[in-house]
Amino acid sequence: MKVCVVGTGYVGLTTSVCLAYLGHDVTCIDLDERKIDTLRAGHTPIYEPFIDQLLEQVAARLTFTTDYAVGVPGADVVFIAVQTPQLGNGSPDLQYLRAAAESVAQHLAGGLTVVVNKSTVPIGSGNWVDAILREAYERHHGHRPDGQFAVASNPEFLREGNALHDTLYPDRIVIGSDNQASLDVLSQLYRGILNQSFTPPTSLPRPAALGAVPLVSTDLASAELVKYAANAFLALKISYINEIAAIAGAVGADVAEVARGTGLDARIGSRFLQPGVGWGGSCFGKDTAALVATAAEYNLAMPIVNAAREVNQRQRTRVVDRLLDELRIIKGRKIGLLGLAFKPDTDDLRDSPAIDIATLLLERGARISLHDPVAADRFQREQPDLAAHLTHRIEDVFDDADAVVVVTDWSQYLDLDWDKFLPSMRCPLVLDGRHCLSADRLTELGYRYLTLTGPAIPPRSNA
Ligand code: UDX
Repeated sequence: MKVCVVGTGYVGLTTSVCLAYLGHDVTCIDLDERKIDTLRAGHTPIYEPFIDQLLEQVAARLTFTTDYAVGVPGADVVFIAVQTPQLGNGSPDLQYLRAAAESVAQHLAGGLTVVVNKSTVPIGSGNWVDAILREAYERHHGHRPDGQFAVASNPEFLREGNALHDTLYPDRIVIGSDNQASLDVLSQLYRGILNQSFTPPTSLPRPAALGAVPLVSTDLASAELVKYAANAFLALKISYINEIAAIAGAVGADVAEVARGTGLDARIGSRFLQPGVGWGGSCFGKDTAALVATAAEYNLAMPIVNAAREVNQRQRTRVVDRLLDELRIIKGRKIGLLGLAFKPDTDDLRDSPAIDIATLLLERGARISLHDPVAADRFQREQPDLAAHLTHRIEDVFDDADAVVVVTDWSQYLDLDWDKFLPSMRCPLVLDGRHCLSADRLTELGYRYLTLTGPAIPPRSNA
């Protein structure tokens, strides 16, 4: 099929590369010339495992351009995957979506084109995009767009860092439209994924247990709401375990064991029950806020979703409270933060807990040293005003530090030579913000080990 993808961010680029891998001809449009130049040169403007190799493999079926006239005319499907940043009132800013839809409408030509909202948009945006396309089409072409296009929603559920895997081997594909022909086009487009008929890329083997992928083919509003309902549920699962972690700490229970014992109930499931500093990233914070904002338009409160948001924010301030418990005075202390990205295997810093934690500690007069194996340079560009010391050398984080906090559970930190760094610390305190380290191992080495809940575990030698 002939496919056009507007926007070359995490979602747009992953979708493009995977569809090209399935054999479709894909044109990627982005107004940012630098991004397009980078992509034409065979590089990716985002950090995502394996995407460079796959891009190289499917290069012959991919075109990169800043020009809508190259990709839209004659396309069977146009995906709009532009950014929808959060506004002050919690609702997403749809200006880029509007601009993209207007440009698409100007260049529509040929038979039916299915225009798909791939960006996470408020419920009802499908109708809104439809109206924009109609108006812009009529303005530009001088007649009504009869049968020229249909709007559909096809939410993505990919996790950054696992984006290609999640796209090629999804738990389900959701498509929504009020036009049956466009649903048929989309199920045809995804046939290779639905019946898993493609040969897996060598770097991304197919999970052994994966059979046919379920398709949820529904109306526009339902597809739009699935995205919010799924993300909010995952977000509240994380906040729930963080709330349980607090009581586990208070009663002397081990939250890891509680999470395991709880998650093995098949009705609950063990994933997304990892306690810690909470969620960040481009989706959970924004989507839960947008869901609350949409509900408010219908005079509906969402107390459960709101509570999940509050708990998540509290986890960030808890880091400071825990350090205060231990160090008593934060002013003048040197605190090292390991990890800036909102999770491992991405350089994405959007709504990253590390930014709030560093800011809160700086406000209390701490000296901060920051490290991230991938996101450090990006952090420097995006947070130039944060008066912290950014370093590429892990030893700098430990050197003379009063505490080191693990904010992101990068595998590099799990496998660190922790014994090597201990002697250079002023006070050997580790706050494991992700419950990802072995308390036994660290205390054996001589560290004082702390999580966001429960008493600190003293070093073995001093115990
Ligand atoms: C998420 C959804 O998983 C995906 O389906 C949706 O399309 C976009 O949002 P992403 O934001 O890339 O994906 O990351 P995810 O792996 O879901 O993690 C989100 C945040 O939650 C991270 O900060 C992670 O560290 C945190 N998290 C996750 C926990 O704190 N505990 C967990 O058990 C799981």
